[in-house]
Amino acid sequence: MIDLGQRARRLPGIDTHSTNAGRWSEGILDCIGKTPLVRLSRYLDYESPELLVKLESANPGGSAKDRPAALMLADALEKGFIDERTTIVESSSGNMGIGLAQACRYHGLRFLCVVDPHAQSQNIAIIQALGGEVVRVETPINDNFLTARIARVRMLLEENPNSFWPNQYANRCNPMAHELATIQEIDEATGGDFDYLFVATSSTGTAQGCRDYLRKRGRRTKVIAVDAEGSVLFGGTPGKRLVPGLGAGQLPELAEGQVFDRIVRVSDLHCVTGCRRASRREAMLIGGSAGGVLEAVRSLQEEVGSSRVVAILHDSGTRYLDTIFNDEWVEAALGVSRDEVSNRINEPALAPTSKVTE
Ligand SMILES: Cc1ncc(COP(=O)(O)O)c(C=O)c1O
Repeated sequence: MIDLGQRARRLPGIDTHSTNAGRWSEGILDCIGKTPLVRLSRYLDYESPELLVKLESANPGGSAKDRPAALMLADALEKGFIDERTTIVESSSGNMGIGLAQACRYHGLRFLCVVDPHAQSQNIAIIQALGGEVVRVETPINDNFLTARIARVRMLLEENPNSFWPNQYANRCNPMAHELATIQEIDEATGGDFDYLFVATSSTGTAQGCRDYLRKRGRRTKVIAVDAEGSVLFGGTPGKRLVPGLGAGQLPELAEGQVFDRIVRVSDLHCVTGCRRASRREAMLIGGSAGGVLEAVRSLQEEVGSSRVVAILHDSGTRYLDTIFNDEWVEAALGVSRDEVSNRINEPALAPTSKVTE
């Protein structure tokens, strides 16, 4: 007869040694963080470096942005800037919008989320399902939708007397959320023993928080900021970018003067290749910026040699089924056929644009 108790011990996902007694969370916001750190042994071309990835899609709202969203509101509540009658207003069509919709619903706050026509319908549906009210901006200002969205935010703040703009692009709680938790979790899991940290950047909140934690403790870890080609961060030249959440079209206040050990710029094709390669080799569905981050690691794997690399993967591929994982979209948007993408997955990584800043 099969001893199920013995077998279960060897089955993935079943751990009969540990107990879950008393390990529940106090509501959904309490489930944010403590995301898995996973060793990927198949993604890179060589056995070294050792690659560990922090799976931020395991946050309840599906991304790393749950952390700053929850902290920005908790901070404003604690300081008395907002109360239960406050309307929260933010411009975001992506992960921050979802994180804020979740946190606002939990605290019983009204949430107005300003979006433009580029917003993905799935994200809007999630924000609305969490009670967020979507305000659509249809016309750009000076050819720029971000300017139009910010103008609408300011208008809504004026129209609603008790309203508050968390403003992730200037709010110090954004990097602080990562300094207090994301990097601390990585540090504890590895005993502080890792040589490189690869982080996708947009507001630069994640990368800043992680860097500040490491520097305050005098760690050797080099922080590699992964940016998009066509992003203006770190002195980049503006251009077309298609992967949401990676790079910026205007320099956010938070990103001014930020220095990292190295800046690596990846293209939309790097992101697609990384996502498809993670699916094929590691059976993992990861988001666009995460694909770019993994390709940045792969392109530098010879240079980093026998070290330990940690990469933060901001969200999941389930939000990119109509784009990055859709062959027709990739062909129309990037001019790369299904076969070319398929071949690219097994070819050496494309060299990214790289800039050493220290
Ligand atoms: C998918 C994704 N990756 C990376 C980032 C960049 O994070 P940060 O704004 O902390 O630089 C974001 C931010 O929105 C994101 O949504």
